[in-house]
Amino acid sequence: EFMSEIKGLSVLEKQIKERLQVGNVIIVPGNSDKYEWVKQEMGKACIAFLKTIVKPESTIAVTGGTSMAAIADVMTPLNKKNSYLFVPARGGIGEKVENQANTIAAEMAKKAKGDYRLLYVPDPLSDSAYESIIEEPSINEILKQIKGSSIILHGIGDAITMAERRKTPESIIEILKTNKAVSEAFGYYFNAEGNVVHKVKTIGIHLEDLGSIEHVITVAGGKSKGQAIASYFKHGKSNLLITDEAAAEQILRDY
Ligand code: F6P
Repeated sequence: EFMSEIKGLSVLEKQIKERLQVGNVIIVPGNSDKYEWVKQEMGKACIAFLKTIVKPESTIAVTGGTSMAAIADVMTPLNKKNSYLFVPARGGIGEKVENQANTIAAEMAKKAKGDYRLLYVPDPLSDSAYESIIEEPSINEILKQIKGSSIILHGIGDAITMAERRKTPESIIEILKTNKAVSEAFGYYFNAEGNVVHKVKTIGIHLEDLGSIEHVITVAGGKSKGQAIASYFKHGKSNLLITDEAAAEQILRDY
């Protein structure tokens, strides 16, 4: 029975690869909307994969959210000899402390026996604050490290769920609804066709930086995220999607 389950998931992986046009897909059993341990299983799959790609000089950037926090929960040393640098991919974007990229990068580093650098910026940033903050030498230095990452781990969320979780002003939620935003990643909100309909102004990795990052790893699961995942993959760059069975089935059924 165990073998047939494994075989079943590999068929699903192949179907999702074709449907979303992504190079590599890993699917874990279950539905992470219902069970927290399913996120940890995605986390373990992510760590096993990381072990196959890290190089001695790797810098690993991470975003926020509960899926990323679950990876941090189960993080282990990636390699006996080397230590890696963990950085947040972007400035804070309204998450609770335990789900912020800074917190997650620090915890991953501690458990992986690596180093970390953090990025402290106000959120959201006005245009004038943005222009002056990126000139600050200490911010500039960490930004260079972030932009030099060779691996990025990121989550995807349902657009309105994320906007509400971030206590986004009602006027912006209205804009998201009018423009039919369905997904969010890196502070960008996308519609069902994968076009950007709104962005949160903050510093760090932007969508256009993803092209030069060797490994972009997406971790998102749960039946409720099927549409959001499908939307991100219309244009979003990713080399690997780690998801769960419930999200995969939802995508194949409806998107
Ligand atoms: O806010 C950070 C972030 O990575 C978002 O870009 C993404 O939409 C969300 O968190 C995913 O969170 P979760 O894994 O909790 O669904």
